[in-house]
Amino acid sequence: MSLYQTVSVDLGDRSYPIIIGRGLLGGNFDLADYVRGTDCFVVSNETVAPLYLDKLRPNLAGRNVASFSLPDGESFKSVATMQTILDELLASGANRDTTVIALGGGVVGDIAGFAAACFMRGVAFIQVPTTLLAQVDSSVGGKTGVNHEKGKNLIGAFHQPRLVLIDTDTLDTLPVREFRAGLAEVIKYGAICDPAFFTWLESNMSGLLEKDPKLLAYAIQRSCELKAEVVAGDERETGRRAILNFGHTFGHAIERCLGYGEWLHGEAVAAGMIMAADLSGITAADLARLKGLVGAAGLPTEAPAIAGDRWLEAMGMDKKIRQKQLRFVLLRALGEAYLSADYDGARLEALIGAGA
Ligand code: NAD
Ligand code: GLY
Repeated sequence: MSLYQTVSVDLGDRSYPIIIGRGLLGGNFDLADYVRGTDCFVVSNETVAPLYLDKLRPNLAGRNVASFSLPDGESFKSVATMQTILDELLASGANRDTTVIALGGGVVGDIAGFAAACFMRGVAFIQVPTTLLAQVDSSVGGKTGVNHEKGKNLIGAFHQPRLVLIDTDTLDTLPVREFRAGLAEVIKYGAICDPAFFTWLESNMSGLLEKDPKLLAYAIQRSCELKAEVVAGDERETGRRAILNFGHTFGHAIERCLGYGEWLHGEAVAAGMIMAADLSGITAADLARLKGLVGAAGLPTEAPAIAGDRWLEAMGMDKKIRQKQLRFVLLRALGEAYLSADYDGARLEALIGAGA
């Protein structure tokens, strides 16, 4: 009997599996087939490494394992930290056959992936995500990078992992606020492309908050399936992949205006999704359902107070901008998203003015 579920990300010769199960760390899933060469370099952080680095070691039996832990926090997802990781890779004697392994949340995954993309022009990379947000979103799809003071994720590269290994037991130690933040991205998938999943989430949110193992496994699997399907159709975000940024134009602006780490990424995305849905002009009933689900997950349904000009300045760094024109991911209805520069300007002013 299989102890885990597998979701495939189909990208030709860069295809890879996402393995989802319980008790996978500790040797119950052999990483040997996915490690190129004999050397691994595990990037983690000061919170996650003491919890899970020793549990990961048996999965890498027979390999040389070097490791480096970053300080904890979004503010360390920076060019300066990236430089430190590259220095540590060189100091450890890493070479083109070294496999970089990210053990941690989205911050660790994004920066370790970027280091793997750049080191020796690109080395093999494995994601072992330990937050709900990283398990359902950031570890899948190959977006890697760091923040710049001018905006989130402005410096980075596409670099797909060879494997995403999700041990859902790691969520046992995740603080509840971080768990709820991950639920924002789960809700996002229902809102943008799967109305039935949205309805399922409405029925099962209280069980998910209790971390019911069966419900959690399904929510993670379904989220990964939906993300894998979108990424397989548009790996480099020339079109449809942009829908995965639903709520993120507002959300990234919130993160930047408040200072990175003040609101968690998922919290900012939660409030941002409601603003984007409102801007979309969906029915009042659909907007109320989205607000209800976000609220049921214990996430913010309103943006913090930010002056209108600061919103515009922060959103002006959005990567979806073309010909100086803001574009938003909007909803036709719950479960149907599209990217558009054609939005109601007066409604936008009212929305960002409302937070002033
Ligand atoms: P995070 O990496 O900061 O982790 C959140 C906190 O949980 C940290 O303090 C971390 O040390 C701690 N932690 C992690 N795992 C733990 C565990 N199992 N037990 C106890 N504590 C644990 O934040 P995140 O929400 O995982 O990721 C957010 C980042 O992901 C942002 O930088 C965001 O931009 C990025 N992101 C990237 C993508 C992508 O496609 N690459 C998608 C979404 C978000
Ligand atoms: N989280 C957005 C993306 O992966 O495209």
